[in-house]
Amino acid sequence: MSFYGVPEGRRVTMRDLAEATRRGEKWPMITAYDALTARIFDEAGIPAMLVGDSAAMVVYGHDSTLPVQVHELVPLVQAVVRGSTRAFIVADLPFGSYQASPTQALETAAAFMKDGGAHAVKLEGGAPMLPQVELLASAGVPVIGHLGLTPQSVNLLGGYRVQGRGEAGEHLLRDAKAMEAAGACALVLEVVPAELAARVSEVLTIPTIGIGAGSATDAQVIVWQDLVGLTPGPVPRFVRQYADVRTVIGDAVAQWAADVASGAYPAPEHEYA
Ligand code: KIV
Repeated sequence: MSFYGVPEGRRVTMRDLAEATRRGEKWPMITAYDALTARIFDEAGIPAMLVGDSAAMVVYGHDSTLPVQVHELVPLVQAVVRGSTRAFIVADLPFGSYQASPTQALETAAAFMKDGGAHAVKLEGGAPMLPQVELLASAGVPVIGHLGLTPQSVNLLGGYRVQGRGEAGEHLLRDAKAMEAAGACALVLEVVPAELAARVSEVLTIPTIGIGAGSATDAQVIVWQDLVGLTPGPVPRFVRQYADVRTVIGDAVAQWAADVASGAYPAPEHEYA
């Protein structure tokens, strides 16, 4: 199993991922929220996993990422760390847990790293978050920035829409350079024009991680439920669905229920003497 040149017996580090980028190798990052799927992704050779605040929606059933709390995400980070042995695990700082001050950001990051076992954190936002990024980086925390469509700002943005068109693209480019200068170790670019993501990726030396940002970014990140067809309803245009797990699970459960009702399950081979 390829782990981007990383020897057996140790986890991938941010340095490994940055070196892969320098070698021109593109790499995948996938979200994970529990031990069993983390193990599947680890065994599939995925070098980086994000315990996203998207857990608010896909785990806790909220209709945005805003309500999820640090104490709800830390156990998910612990589970993903326990379920994996090779991947680099990133914890998302949820809304309200880092914006107030650099000190607040460091305290939250410390909780995710000390209690959760995360190897890095991610936060959303541009210029106003530079002091947070500087303090985290100086404290030895690998911190990933997130520009473009930042779902924690959905109320300000007026919906989940493409960001960085026209003059806003120049602003994003400036923010991206400032993030790198402040010490960010990578940058997520979400739902921005492909041409803008290509310019950012060209200019930065740190890896860019795209989601709905075209093919020129150094890495791609995706919410796993979107990827395998577990998410109900329409998925964003940038998602390619590789399986129909929702139908597989639904059919299996319906078949089991029918077997229970008919008495076909349990059968003699499921019984103990
Ligand atoms: O929370 C999340 O899953 C994310 C990714 C979509 C980048 O932030």
